[in-house]
Amino acid sequence: MYHEPFFYYRMKTHPKTAIICGSRLGGLADVLDNKTVFLYEDIPHFPQSTAPGHLGRLVFGELNGQLCVCRQGRFHYYEGYSISTVTFPIRVFFLLGVEILIVTNAAGGLNPHFQVGDIMFIRDYISIFGLGGQNPLHGPNDERFGVRFPCMSDTYEQDLLGLAMESAQELGIVSFTQEGIYCQLAGPSYETIAECRVLQALGVDAVGMSTLPEVIVARHCGLQFFGISVTTNRVVMSYDNHEKANHKKALHISVVRAEALQKLVTRLLGKVGENTNPL
Ligand code: HPA
Repeated sequence: MYHEPFFYYRMKTHPKTAIICGSRLGGLADVLDNKTVFLYEDIPHFPQSTAPGHLGRLVFGELNGQLCVCRQGRFHYYEGYSISTVTFPIRVFFLLGVEILIVTNAAGGLNPHFQVGDIMFIRDYISIFGLGGQNPLHGPNDERFGVRFPCMSDTYEQDLLGLAMESAQELGIVSFTQEGIYCQLAGPSYETIAECRVLQALGVDAVGMSTLPEVIVARHCGLQFFGISVTTNRVVMSYDNHEKANHKKALHISVVRAEALQKLVTRLLGKVGENTNPL
């Protein structure tokens, strides 16, 4: 048996939901009730986050009455971490007894109907990493976490998507809520026009630089997943368009949408809690 993570013993309660906050979206952790905060640097073996817009803290608490742990600051492959380091916290969550993983991220919109500021519920994904042979489950399988060949066709939890859509309707934010296919590239360079055209032809609605290795590891160990991408920019698809992708602007849009996301996740968790036979 694995030893439970060190904070397992320090917490009287154990969260059922883990939330990973994207760039400038970490405000969610601040609104948790009854918070207990751990700095990454104080957690044995935990990697440190170096990306701008990311803090480095695990915040335990309650959101809408539901126990959860919020990760403020994530580790990206483009920072130089290996995929196994990027996904390490997911297995920590699993060992803590977490059952649901909620991820928010920033993404470039490829779908021509998407506007800057739209939020997209992730319905499916294309992992360019995975297609290229870089899967976080590569290597010997540890059966204590999951099976050798995990199914991914059910990655996106329909019930969670339904509850999220219901929440969006109740909050009156459907005018900027979308559903679609997310694709992750390694980053940190943004995509070329030719790359964007290829991705669009593949059916990608939004492209970003995070999330999918974590999703694969989460699904491997049986966590339910729900993801939201904030469209921080529209990718450049034409040589006549002289706009340039810009991280500062992207962070600004994330800040603008942070409150709506916070309300959405809060309401969603309330609905998950109400569900007597949870998902
Ligand atoms: N491409 C990749 N990642 C991103 C983008 C983008 O256009 N916008 C925000 N994250």
